[in-house]
Amino acid sequence: MNKGIAIYPGSFDPPTNGHLDLIQRGSKIFEELVVAILRNSEKTPMFSVAERLEMLKELTADLKNVRLDTFHGLMVEYAKSIDAICVLRGIRAVSDYEYELQMALMNRKLEPTLETVFMMPADKYSYVSSRLVREVAQAGGPVRGLVPEVVELKLREKLDAANRLEEGRLQARAARAAKHKGKEGKRK
Ligand code: PNS
Repeated sequence: MNKGIAIYPGSFDPPTNGHLDLIQRGSKIFEELVVAILRNSEKTPMFSVAERLEMLKELTADLKNVRLDTFHGLMVEYAKSIDAICVLRGIRAVSDYEYELQMALMNRKLEPTLETVFMMPADKYSYVSSRLVREVAQAGGPVRGLVPEVVELKLREKLDAANRLEEGRLQARAARAAKHKGKEGKRK
């Protein structure tokens, strides 16, 4: 086991089985692993940071050397502030490599003492990403096996709520149109 703190930064919107697999692997080789969620005000996420924290809390409850946190701004600055010596990132396929290499080299330029370590999740998760999970779930497709059960449940709750809201909006619009038509009819 490596001495010191490693940080596993990401969006985790939502956490997938690939993320969890990497957290489990990382927790075995680092003394302490801090899973850090980026608070990014520019993006419109599906899950709030609090919801993502809650899900990750449940998923990592049995991993005693895993800590959760959030950060904003430069990742290297946050890493320094918690005395992390290493950044953990996952590489699923060659397609990830270019972006990850660019990010690792930029981070090295910003903070030369912080090393990036890449790990591969299990090959059965090599095609799983948060973006595709959101896309499949939003289109009503199954995400079983791609995300932990707790995340599957939260996705269903979130999408049911969104569907109810949309249904309500459509009903209100139809009612307004009918009212307008009624008034027009009386005028004629
Ligand atoms: O899960 P993601 O979205 O691939 O994670 C990307 C993340 C959060 C690790 C990256 O965007 C990041 O570190 N953002 C913080 C801002 C920063 O430090 N940018 C410079 C990195 S080159």
